[in-house]
Amino acid sequence: MGNFLAGKVVAVTGAGRGIGRAVALACAQEGAKVVVNDYGVAIDGAGPSSEVAEAVVKEIEAAGGTATAVADDVSTMAGGQRIVDTALAQYGRIDGVVCVAGILRERMLFNMSEEEWDPVVATHLKGTFTVFRAAAAVMRRQGSGTLVGFTSGNHQGSVSQANYSAAKGGIISLVRSAALGLHKYGVTANAVAPVARTRMSANVPMELTEIGEPEDVAAFVVYLLSERAREVTGQVYTVAGPKIAVWAQPGELRSVHADEGGWTPERVAEVVPGAVGVDPMPLLAQVSAMAAAARGAKR
Ligand SMILES: NC(=O)c1ccc[n+]([C@@H]2O[C@H](COP(=O)([O-])OP(=O)(O)OC[C@H]3O[C@@H](n4cnc5c(N)ncnc54)[C@H](O)[C@@H]3O)[C@@H](O)[C@H]2O)c1
Repeated sequence: MGNFLAGKVVAVTGAGRGIGRAVALACAQEGAKVVVNDYGVAIDGAGPSSEVAEAVVKEIEAAGGTATAVADDVSTMAGGQRIVDTALAQYGRIDGVVCVAGILRERMLFNMSEEEWDPVVATHLKGTFTVFRAAAAVMRRQGSGTLVGFTSGNHQGSVSQANYSAAKGGIISLVRSAALGLHKYGVTANAVAPVARTRMSANVPMELTEIGEPEDVAAFVVYLLSERAREVTGQVYTVAGPKIAVWAQPGELRSVHADEGGWTPERVAEVVPGAVGVDPMPLLAQVSAMAAAARGAKR
């Protein structure tokens, strides 16, 4: 066992499988006491089971670590609160929360139903809020703590997962808001965009993307939770196998101001295309190139 997180208490959501499981195991291996949360659902969010979280607790204990299972649904306020309350009741404090839980309901926007939109946004975005909310109240009093959200490269946009993409974009804004609001209390907040082999990424064509293992992501999350990353806040990182990258902060690119007459549609049409223009969307170019290649292959 290492000692990167010695004496710390960490809660990980979605910790029964995939990346969350690797994060929970790595935290325990580095000396943290771990609350293992998982609702134990299928990839679309159906069929909850408490065995999935319990199995990871057993793995941690078998390796000599300390952990407790919470099988609650993170998309409820009571679930988020119970995860944090369990850490306090069992171990007396909460130093880090890592919100990894997620589901997929893929559909083109023009066919997407409310039943496909709501649970995806609720699991990812609200499920990060419920745990951040409960943990932040304790961390504020403690004067220390680390919040980690899970986003995706898909926050840039997605052809067939508008629900997931919107939730992942929301998580970045939530993380930045937490970083701003909690800075004076010594609490950090960051987001991780992973690319790792799990059941969730199984349908992503591997040749299109750099990909690694859940353990690669876990090592980075342990660093974020540790004292070595106390100054790191408000950041978004990609972890894809051997690659770790930081994303730029959003900002205005170019601007123009109206003259004294103000803006009219005609003045906008005259001035804005040349003076401000557009910022080309890299994913749109990629999607167009793929569509052109598919058309070429059909001929
Ligand atoms: N795998 C990748 O390459 C990849 C890429 C981008 C983003 N992500 C993100 O990383 C995170 C982990 O993904 P993964 O690939 O390990 O997925 P996974 O499907 O292997 O694991 C997700 C876990 O979350 C749990 N879960 C689902 N709904 C829950 C709820 N309401 N409450 C508590 N637990 C719940 C599931 O039971 C499951 O065990 C997700 O947020 C995902 O969007 C993954």
